[in-house]
Order: sequence, then C-alpha cells, then structure tokens
Amino acid sequence: MSYRLLVLKTYYKELSPMTDLFPTMRQPLIRLAAFLLLGSGTILYGQESEAPATEPKAMHGYHHSFHDVGKYARLFESKERDKWQEPDRVIEALNLKPGSVVADIGAGTGYFTRRFSQAVGAEGKVYAIDSEPAMADYLRKEVKEKGLKNVTVRLVKPGSADLEPQSVDRIFFCVVLHHVDNRIEYLRKLSGALKPEGRIVLIDFKPNSPVGPPPAHRILEEEAKEEFRQAGYRVVKEYDFLPYQYFLEFAPEK
Ligand SMILES: C[S@@+](CC[C@H](N)C(=O)[O-])C[C@H]1O[C@@H](n2cnc3c(N)ncnc32)[C@H](O)[C@@H]1O
Repeated sequence: MSYRLLVLKTYYKELSPMTDLFPTMRQPLIRLAAFLLLGSGTILYGQESEAPATEPKAMHGYHHSFHDVGKYARLFESKERDKWQEPDRVIEALNLKPGSVVADIGAGTGYFTRRFSQAVGAEGKVYAIDSEPAMADYLRKEVKEKGLKNVTVRLVKPGSADLEPQSVDRIFFCVVLHHVDNRIEYLRKLSGALKPEGRIVLIDFKPNSPVGPPPAHRILEEEAKEEFRQAGYRVVKEYDFLPYQYFLEFAPEK
C-alpha cells in the first residue's frame, strides 16, 4: 500500500465512520485531504488488495468484505443515493417486459432487485445473486417480508453465477464487477446463460466521481469495454444520464 493511501485511509477513518462504500465527501477537510493526497478529488475506503503490477488488472478483483450488512444497508439504501443513482430511469432504460428474466449479480441489499421484481411482474423472474452469505440471508428475509414472489435468492461462490443455460434476458451488474477475479473468463462463461437476445448491463463508477470504490480498484469505462470485447461481446447501448457512473449494455458477438 502506498504511503499516500495509508495516510489518507487513517485520516478519513478518524473523521468519518462511512469509510467503505459510497462514502460522501461532505466534510470540507476530508475533501481537501483527498485532493491534496490524491490530486483527484476522490476518496478511499475499505481494505486493500493490491494486484501485482505485472499481471493484468482483469485477473484480480478488489476483495472486500460485505459481511456487515447493517452498515451496507444504510449506505446502499440511502436517500442520498437515490438522487444520483436514478433507479427509475435505469429500470426504464432496460426496457424490461412483463415475463422478463433478470439476474441481479452482486445484488447486495436488493436496491435494484426490488425494482426488477416490480418491472417483470408475476410472470417474470429475478435471480438475486450474491457471494456474501450475510447478504444472501438479508435478501431472503427482505424477499419474504416484502412478498417478492418472483425473486429467487442464490448464494454463489465468487466466479460462479449458478444460472441455467439460455435462461435470462438481462444480467445486471451495478458496482460489482470490480470485485470479480478472472473477469474475462467469467464473462465468457456468463454468455451461455443469456437467451438469444439477452444482454449484460454494466453500471460502474467513473474515475472522478466523489463516491465509489478506491480509484485504483475502479474499472474504467474503456477497460470494461476492452474486457467485454476480449470475452466476446460488443457494446449495443451506452447511456450517459448518470452523473457518477457509466452505464453500458453488451450483447454476445454472434
Ligand atoms: C457494492 S455492492 C453492490 C450492491 C448492489 N448491486 C447495489 O447496486 O446496491 C457489491 C455486492 O457484490 C457482492 N459480490 C462481490 N463479489 C461478488 C461475486 N464474485 N459474485 C457475486 N456477488 C459478489 C458483494 O457481496 C456485495 O453485496
């Protein structure tokens, strides 16, 4: 870990408990420290897992524990997030139909799962997939409490999505893919789960957004496009209405 990073992490941890995901930068002091130390206006959080410099970035995901579900629920489900995440516009852009099947991989606390559940209706299906056992437990409770009958929760091993061949219309990743190891191989395998007109949708943070994972662990839009290209996909749609994130839709090359 670089000295700059260590200083900033220590500094930020002392000032704010929200050091993990979607940290805000309301305190001017933190903003200033981040600016001086990183020169980018972004802030860091969480544990580090630096990839060896000699290996391609796509091989190493950012390994980060999401075990503390209470803390993440407050961040992921915050009103503040709704302002920049624009979930209704995201759902509208995906053009889901009643009866569509969606896999929400890395579903977290179900921020998008609930909305997918509503969009696909009773004939549709949503797979809420996560590799963190505590998140999957939380999701199961939510699904039961909210009566989301078309949602199935799946706990998976990292690197597996546990989807049947040609079973889904949309595979959705929101701020998840940077956690995955061997991404190109993983994405290649996923194409088998898509129905013939199926798509993979990717939303992830821009490099200069004031919320999001540590800059070193973000996947830049151009890197994502290149990784998908190597995995056998082409970009079919690009949306630019999210202030902090890029939003891409991919289809497998025929
Ligand atoms: C930053 S959260 C995003 C949650 C949700 N997509 C959202 O937008 O609110 C990342 C989630 O991905 C899960 N995750 C991390 N690596 C994963 C993997 N390899 N497969 C499935 N889920 C994973 C984590 O447990 C966590 O719940």
